[in-house]
Amino acid sequence: MDTQALKDSWHLVARSGDEVPLYFYSVLFLMNPDVRDMFPVSMARQRDRLVGALGQVVSNVDQVEGVVPFLQQLGRDHRKFAVTAAHYPAVGQALLATLEHFLGERWTPALAHDWTQAYNLVAQVMVEASNEAAKVSPPWWEAEIIGQENRTLDIAVIRARLNYQYPFRPGQSASISYSMRPRIWRFYSFANAPRQDNTIDLHVRMVDGGALSSALVMGARRGDVLRVGAAVGERLTLAPEVQGDLLMIAGGTGLAPLKALVEQIAFEGPSRRVDLVVGARTSRDLYDLEALGKMAAEHPWLNVVPVVSHDPFYRGTRGYAVDVALQGWRGQHVFVCGSEEMVQATNGRLLDAGVPSEQIHFDEFTSDRGRES
Ligand SMILES: Cc1cc2nc3c(=O)[nH]c(=O)nc-3n(C[C@H](O)[C@H](O)[C@H](O)COP(=O)(O)OP(=O)(O)OC[C@H]3O[C@@H](n4cnc5c(N)ncnc54)[C@H](O)[C@@H]3O)c2cc1C
Ligand code: HEM
Repeated sequence: MDTQALKDSWHLVARSGDEVPLYFYSVLFLMNPDVRDMFPVSMARQRDRLVGALGQVVSNVDQVEGVVPFLQQLGRDHRKFAVTAAHYPAVGQALLATLEHFLGERWTPALAHDWTQAYNLVAQVMVEASNEAAKVSPPWWEAEIIGQENRTLDIAVIRARLNYQYPFRPGQSASISYSMRPRIWRFYSFANAPRQDNTIDLHVRMVDGGALSSALVMGARRGDVLRVGAAVGERLTLAPEVQGDLLMIAGGTGLAPLKALVEQIAFEGPSRRVDLVVGARTSRDLYDLEALGKMAAEHPWLNVVPVVSHDPFYRGTRGYAVDVALQGWRGQHVFVCGSEEMVQATNGRLLDAGVPSEQIHFDEFTSDRGRES
């Protein structure tokens, strides 16, 4: 297989931007009208979630060994869209037709052969993982909303009860969809450690024009139903080799998975000191201070430091969370979560200050992928 030819041809096709998913979906839906129902009702503002990933993954098939766990997770996770093995040939066919259309005379029989092989290889890993998962877990869980609190104009804390036992670890997230916005799935982090009563907390910030976050913040009510995919992500979970005290830096709703870690340490140990620096633009955005204050009062090993960056009248600590955190860094592992911008800036500062990269654990909320790579 000429893997360089795969990469080069995808690079060429990707240059056509939004035209590519537009063409792909036209072919897919024209030839397979039954799959239209799997996708969101409105695809007018469609962020390209599938096609970009498809080209990227398949054209990098020479590195497939390294991404097998990611592909397996993707395959298992695709069960939430009601994808079965029978759908893979249709998507492969639409991908090939799209490549042929955009490559014109560069689309040779040899290239077609290589793309077919590469797609089949990737599809096989996904299908096998999906079949294995089908033996042990449902494609999604249902969760009834039992509480929705608007803590600020754009942040809500939602509590929901899952219909049956749901395995997850603190620090993980799951893809979630809401009955009022069918077939739209986005990732949200659990803000708690697993509980006996199967409830989960989510911290949701509304983004401008956001399809799901705005519905959850503005419209979610008790009794509404969420669908919850399997828990994903290892970046913020507490691995056994992460010993000793911890320093945590949260930006906005990036607090959610870090709060879950604090709960885990409270329930399970091992005992260690945790400094949790909670960053926000203004004091109004410090949406969970009451709950954090209670936790800190109960656990002398927990130190919560709210920090506000853009509010000259704030009486507490002002500045960027990372700068305040660095003042207290004594060699601990550091956990960072927030927007992509916040995480990148924070990581840069930590590295500059000499924190070893293997001691920095981070995840960000703007990535489309939401899982391990
Ligand atoms: C692993 C992971 C965990 C996450 N956990 C949480 C969480 O606990 N709480 C939470 O509130 N969000 C979390 N997110 C972000 C969340 O998945 C959604 O991206 C976010 O809620 C926006 O979705 P939407 O459907 O409302 O917006 P969309 O309709 O997808 O997007 C609308 C517009 O907003 C832009 N946009 C999308 N997301 C963001 C963002 N986060 N910041 C700024 N602009 C954005 C898009 O580029 C687009 O232009 C997480 C994301 C990942 C990958
Ligand atoms: C090699 C095969 C495939 C790869 C690499 C792939 C990859 C992806 C990725 C990375 C996403 C975005 C992740 C997410 O939103 O959770 C996605 C979304 C999706 N995929 Fe796939 N996929 C493949 C095959 C399929 C097949 C066979 C179907 C069935 C028709 C399918 C249907 C979907 C749907 C419905 C979405 C959501 C799209 C949206 O929200 O706009 N995928 N895919």
